[in-house]
Amino acid sequence: MLETAKSTFQLSAEGLAEVKKELARYEIKDSAIIPALYVAQKENKGFITTAVIHHLGQVMDIPVSKINEVFKFYTMFNQVPVGKHHVQVCTNISCALEGGRELTNHICHELGVKLGEVTADGRFSVSRVECLGSCGTAPMMQVNTKYYESLTPESAMNILRGMK
Ligand code: FES
Repeated sequence: MLETAKSTFQLSAEGLAEVKKELARYEIKDSAIIPALYVAQKENKGFITTAVIHHLGQVMDIPVSKINEVFKFYTMFNQVPVGKHHVQVCTNISCALEGGRELTNHICHELGVKLGEVTADGRFSVSRVECLGSCGTAPMMQVNTKYYESLTPESAMNILRGMK
């Protein structure tokens, strides 16, 4: 659930500088929304809240509704808190044909969580995502920023069990 606009968020000085750099990079400032969301998500423990969106709106002088639209469209921006290792399993067409949905279910079952939940120890969260551009090596998952490809349920769990 998104936090209310009353909760606070403020970019660090470094984060603010990064967002301003992105704003200067493009002719149309809306183009800086995605990189700004990345910066803000990183600074807000891996997820975006209403307060984050409002802050970006002020800092970037872009309507909150526009930032919200971009935020809601892309699965790489998290709407809820995520685990230390955020497991994003692709279930788009190529991955689905190669067992991506079953893979997702297996990972959730083994970790003892439902989609969108964080394990009790805070180490893992699991979500389903759209195509990550690695269709030739389906099924695949992304854990934080790293890709793991040509997975089986067993190989995926071996990878996850090896994570601290
Ligand atoms: S369909 Fe899974 S990476 Fe493209």
